[in-house]
Amino acid sequence: MKVRVPPIKCQGIKSKLIPLIQRTVDWSFDGTWIEPFMGSGVVGFNIMPRNALFADSNPHLINFYEAIANGKLDGLKVRSFLEREGAILSQRGQDYYYEVRARFNRYHHPLDFLFLNRSCFNGVIRFNSKGGFNVPFGHKPQRFSKAYITKIVNQVDFVHTISRTFNWSFVCQDFRETLSGISEGDFVYCDPPYVGRHVDYFDSWNEENERQLFTILSQCPCRFILSTWHSNQHRENAFLGTLWSRFNILTKEHFYHVGAKEANRKPVLEALVTNFTPKHLP
Ligand SMILES: C[S@@+](CC[C@H](N)C(=O)[O-])C[C@H]1O[C@@H](n2cnc3c(N)ncnc32)[C@H](O)[C@@H]1O
Repeated sequence: MKVRVPPIKCQGIKSKLIPLIQRTVDWSFDGTWIEPFMGSGVVGFNIMPRNALFADSNPHLINFYEAIANGKLDGLKVRSFLEREGAILSQRGQDYYYEVRARFNRYHHPLDFLFLNRSCFNGVIRFNSKGGFNVPFGHKPQRFSKAYITKIVNQVDFVHTISRTFNWSFVCQDFRETLSGISEGDFVYCDPPYVGRHVDYFDSWNEENERQLFTILSQCPCRFILSTWHSNQHRENAFLGTLWSRFNILTKEHFYHVGAKEANRKPVLEALVTNFTPKHLP
């Protein structure tokens, strides 16, 4: 099945792992899909549960999807905004990008967030110690071509339609809160930041977080999948052999598309940790 791409990009986006995750999710779909680290939302959006709780500690991601779900943002509004702002970007280039960035850091409008996310360097989401978006310009003044805008509008329309068809909520909260109300028939998909990978204002992760997540998931009354990394060229994820070793571990080679140069895009062996035996092994 074709992978549905969300309108927001982020580091660690799991688009390439969707077929594996879809095959691994073994669930009746009767309860609630619980995703405490939604990021771009690509995983849940492709699973398409009837009931879902999408959460993240980054308020800008949540505001964006919440605006789509409650109808404040739709494809039409996104098209007219990107056509207007994209035309100014093509005339004024990086000066305008930095103007929009300053405007976003002042007013936090979801449309500015989308504009920055789709024209910044490498589509990453990163905030400085004061919570200001600080990703530089992606150096493409002609970024918002007609075709590119249409692609984004279709992605927004897709989320708009499914989030209104199903019973989905988007909540900005810490994973400990999201995981405090799980029931037996639910399904939890966790994709936390990888320890030691990168740290910013809304998105940091340390050993203590990993241990707390382990404790919570060890008592999880329903099935869960945890995404993590297995190894790269230089080292292995020690937590797989220690903390997570009592669960099932599936791996798949996956390439990360974040990084300035092709040479810096090191292959990472991704892992899925599950508390059930998957029916379809890769
Ligand atoms: C690896 S990304 C998730 C990527 C997502 N699965 C995707 O495919 O787009 C991790 C996410 O966890 C969020 N996050 C970091 N710390 C968190 C916390 N303590 N509670 C909830 N979310 C957190 C970050 O903002 C980030 O969006």
